[in-house]
Amino acid sequence: MAKFQTVRGMRDFLPLDAKKLRRVEAAAKEVARLYRFREVVTPLVENYDLLAAKSGEDIKTRMYAFEDLAGRKVALRPEFTASIARLIATTLRNDPKPLRLFSSGTLYRYDEPQFGRYREFWQSNFEIIGSDRPEADVEVLSLTSNIIRRLGLRNHWFKIGHVGILRGLLLEEGVKDEQQNSVMQLLDAKRRTQALRAARKFGVSQEGIATLKKIFEAKGKDALKVLNQLKRKLKKYESAVAGVENLGQIIELCRDSGVESHIMVEAGFARGLEYYTGMIFEPLAPEMEISLGGGGRYDRLVELFGGESTPAVGVAHGLDRITLALDKQNANPEFSERFVVVIPIGAKLIPRALAIALQLRSKGISVEMEIMGRTISRALQDADRRKANYAVILGPKELKEETLVVRNLKNRQQTSVKIQELSQILLERFS
Ligand code: HAM
Repeated sequence: MAKFQTVRGMRDFLPLDAKKLRRVEAAAKEVARLYRFREVVTPLVENYDLLAAKSGEDIKTRMYAFEDLAGRKVALRPEFTASIARLIATTLRNDPKPLRLFSSGTLYRYDEPQFGRYREFWQSNFEIIGSDRPEADVEVLSLTSNIIRRLGLRNHWFKIGHVGILRGLLLEEGVKDEQQNSVMQLLDAKRRTQALRAARKFGVSQEGIATLKKIFEAKGKDALKVLNQLKRKLKKYESAVAGVENLGQIIELCRDSGVESHIMVEAGFARGLEYYTGMIFEPLAPEMEISLGGGGRYDRLVELFGGESTPAVGVAHGLDRITLALDKQNANPEFSERFVVVIPIGAKLIPRALAIALQLRSKGISVEMEIMGRTISRALQDADRRKANYAVILGPKELKEETLVVRNLKNRQQTSVKIQELSQILLERFS
């Protein structure tokens, strides 16, 4: 048989990589606890139509879609939000709002594999359902900031915009929803010239095109100033102005409440997913050209899936990309593990050695039992290589006196210890 490799775009996580990834996930889980998001676990396989409804052209064409054996058209989830909106429209329909739901796991998109882009990747996902108020948006920004900061990633910032600004203008220029989607997709791909051309084709006036260009120019660190200037330029387009005002409120609230991430406003910024209706944002880090996450407000998705009209806002963090950014900043910690090896001298002592290993583990100490039948010197060499802290050596002579030898593998000092006192002594040395 041929030697198999992983399928293109799929990765194995070897122990160190798995540890780094799980550390990032653990930070997200801890923040979910602190912000009172409860975890839901939804299926990897969903109805194709559910996932395709508002995911946008780009994701839609990259889904792992197939027919199951009964002929249902299904797909591997490319994101969590559609599944959560399905839950809200069905099972959780009558649950009191707001709901704060958290998920984490793998997602699948047939993207072109490259740095930070895989076909199987990880997200932690947070959704707040049932509030249309800016403080809900701020909670989403705040928890994202919290995760990034607690992981020790330096110099990140949020790129922030508002779908209502561009869509508001297009709507007032008579551009239909579907046509707006095409313009937004082009903007998401940063193809501004084509976006303007499409807008012109869809009937946007000269003045509208000139205003769109002004929207594209509206960006900068001094977010509130940028937005005030933009508001003046947009005054003909009432719903676009409403978008600017809403974004201003959110940013002001972030500033006043001490959300510590830097905010860069960019009014012409769009995201690929089509369900967004309000604030949108992406956390970024200087070492990466790609976003570490993405989120925003989507007030009409639940309704589209047959639920009641329910405002919602959320974010997904790309756990792979955050891990990469931490690597680039050398901010992933050294994972030093504390463990002991238990080595019996001779086959007769194996049962007692296994029992001692069991007893140590019951006290919370990690133990690797010698299971290769090696000589003591080989077993010690191996323990060094594995960076064990202590070796617990059981010899027949010592056992007669209910003692054994504890060898410190760093300074090679050996002490004789009463078996009864072993776990206590190790715990003290570890603390
Ligand atoms: P998204 O922008 O499509 O949003 O994905 C969020 C994050 O997932 C990206 O910023 C990136 O970090 C990571 N990601 C996406 N595709 C890949 C890939 N091929 N390889 C590695 N990482 C990737 C969503 O998924 C929305 N559901 C977010 C959301 C939640 N909006 C509201 N609620």
